[in-house]
This record gives sequence, C-alpha cells and structure tokens, in this order.
Amino acid sequence: MHRPAITGSGVFTPDQVITNDELVAAFNAYAERFNAENADAIAAGDIAAKAPSSSDFILGASGIEQRHVMDKTGVLDPAVMHPQFRQRSDDEPSIMAEMALDAGRKALEQAGRRADEVDLVICAASNHERPYPAIAIEIQQLLGAGGFAFDMNVACSSATFGIQAAADMIRSGSVRCALVVSPEICSGHLEWRDRDCHFIFGDVCTALVLERAEDAKGAHFVVRSTRCATQFSNNIRNNNGFLRRTRPDGLKDRRDMQFMQEGRKVFKEVLPMVSAHIAAHLSDEAVEASDLRRLWLHQANKSMNDFIGKKVMGRVPEPDEQPNILQDYANTSSAGSIIAFSKYSDDLKPGDAGLICSFGAGYSVGSVLVERG
Ligand code: COA
Repeated sequence: MHRPAITGSGVFTPDQVITNDELVAAFNAYAERFNAENADAIAAGDIAAKAPSSSDFILGASGIEQRHVMDKTGVLDPAVMHPQFRQRSDDEPSIMAEMALDAGRKALEQAGRRADEVDLVICAASNHERPYPAIAIEIQQLLGAGGFAFDMNVACSSATFGIQAAADMIRSGSVRCALVVSPEICSGHLEWRDRDCHFIFGDVCTALVLERAEDAKGAHFVVRSTRCATQFSNNIRNNNGFLRRTRPDGLKDRRDMQFMQEGRKVFKEVLPMVSAHIAAHLSDEAVEASDLRRLWLHQANKSMNDFIGKKVMGRVPEPDEQPNILQDYANTSSAGSIIAFSKYSDDLKPGDAGLICSFGAGYSVGSVLVERG
C-alpha cells in the first residue's frame, strides 16, 4: 500500500463580486416590483407580499460580507434575478471545464507536475453542467491528462468524498497522480428571489493534486486517513432533474427547482452529526484535539464554524487555528474547506497535523486528516 499525499492546490476566483449592499438593493427592488405587480392578489390574501432583505441581517446570521460570481449583471437585475451566460457551441469548453482548467493548472504547478502525468481526474461538485459526457472527461482532454476521469456529486461534501476516492486509489496503486477539481457555480441553483437564502452562495473552483507521498517534489500533506458518512434528509433539497418535463407543471418556474433548505433544522441536526464525526475520526486515529494545528472547515456559516471549532478543540480556537474564508466567498459548497486549506496551509511545519471537514446536503460529512510532510 502507498501513502497518498496532497502535493498541490489551486483556486480559481471569479473576478465579479457582489457585496451584501448590492445584493440587498437588487432584492429589495425586485420585491417592490413583485408587490406592485401582485398588489390585488396580496390585498386579497391570495399571496404573501415579499418582505425586504437587509445587510445587517445577512452579516449577523451568516458572517458573509460578499460573494464572487460568474455573472453579476443578471443576478442584480430585478427583472432577471439569476446569472445569464451566452449559449456555447458543443465545440467550446463548458464553463465548469474552463474554471477547472485554471484551478487545475495552478495546483499542478504547485505540485511540479505536468498534466500528462495525471492519470485520474475527478470533477467533484454539487451540480454538473450536463449529465453526459462527464465534465471530468472534458477537463482530462483539455488538460492533456491520461488515465480516466469521472464526475461525482455529494453536494457540499463532494470535494472531501473525491479526496477519499482519489486517496484510496493511490493507496491501492490503481492510479499514481490524481486531480480532484470542484467547479462550483452555486449562483446557478441559488434562488436569488428568496430573502431567506439569497445571500448564501458564491462561485469558485478549487483543485487538488494527490499522488504517492514518495513522489512528492516539495512540501506536501500526507493524507493520514479519511472518513465519509451520509444520512438521508430532505432539509436541503433541489428537485430539478432529468424527469422534469415528464411531470405536470414540471417545466414551470417552480421554487423547488432551485436550492431549498430548512435552515434552522439544518443548523440543529448537522452540528451534532459533524462534531461526533470529527471526534470519532480523531479517536480512531489516536489524535488528540490538542495535536491539531489547524481546522479547515466547510464554509457555510460563521456560527456553525464557531460551534464546531469550539466543540472539537474544547475551547474557542484561535483565528489562526480555524481560518474562515466565507466572509469573502460566501458558501461555495464543496469548495469552501478546500479554499481555506489552499490559502492557509503554507505555514504548517513538518509533522503538524490538520483536518479538512465538509458537511451539507445528503446529509453528508467528509473529513480528511493530513500531516505536513
Ligand atoms: N433579511 C432580513 N430578514 C430576514 C432575511 C433577510 N435576508 N432572511 C430571513 N429573515 C428573517 C426571517 O424571515 C425570520 O423572521 P421571523 O423571525 O419574523 O420569522 C428571521 O429573519 C430569522 O430567520 P431565520 O431563517 O430563523 O434565520 P437564522 O438565524 O436561522 O439564519 C441561516 C438563517 C440560513 C443563515 C441559518 O439558518 C443557517 O445558517 N442555517 C444553516 C445553513 C447552512 O449551512 N446550509 C448549508 C447549505 S449547504
């Protein structure tokens, strides 16, 4: 058995940014417009008026200050309220593949690897631009990688589950060098017309190179072990899918075709699940919380991260022990913990241990225990 290691990471950050104030101004203009257009139905009690959003609420409830997106013009247009992309021909790269190329090349550069040395590409993300052919195979071809490639989706835990899949294949010898990319265009499935959630998501793409620790050309992180767990829940759900046109009203502009969640229930149910998951993983590995130099947590909500950090460490972690990036990126689904890892890991010393952990829809939880090599 070989020891797998993370030898490179990269982040593609879209250059368009939406601040909370911009977001709220667009939502409130949309809400006023909706209320004016539906004044009679609202007065008759047939539909509810849309209440305004507020930047103070967003910051207080989530810790999010801004988000990067692939298209802000459509999102901020009260007559549109979603991103708008031009139609690409089948001969052009898909958007997810383009994002993945940028992040993937950065990760390969850090690892000191050429693309043709990669023999596995996993595109691990919450949504894929089309059902087939797999986006991962397109990325493999555009990069010039060898071997094989596949897409996988475990919502917010896609990246950590992808790391486990790649690490296990490296351990067994079926692959030698893997690229796990997570292009997350969360703006495409977020319901920007719902104030309860319109502030939650942003877009990004992360990439990690995994290979045998003995092959690493420079500083790296040995993957000591991984743990994945799932438990079915409808509290984060999206009903869009390939059977959409087969159902009565399936093609209508329905709320459940975008991201839906019972935020309070998610908060209450996921926190104990994640805390117990991390405690069990550390205990199996005979690692004490005090041995952990850093936690790279999923980036959904500041209060959730504060809670988990305190539970795991047994005290309030220093900001340096549990870095957050959600204030700048919002929730980027599976990419969040990997952005934190990519931006805040260079300073760890050989022997320092850390834990990457993601959690979300499914429910799903994935943790990766790493040690600086
Ligand atoms: N602006 C102003 N007020 C708002 C608002 C907005 N944008 N959105 C909601 N409110 C109101 C609500 O209507 C509610 O009003 P009420 O008390 O009169 O009913 C009040 O603010 C509190 O709403 P609530 O939804 O209970 O807020 P919260 O404190 O639970 O925060 C979340 C909302 C989504 C931030 C929080 O539930 C959360 O983080 N949950 C977990 C989310 C998560 O991580 N999801 C993972 C996705 S992968």
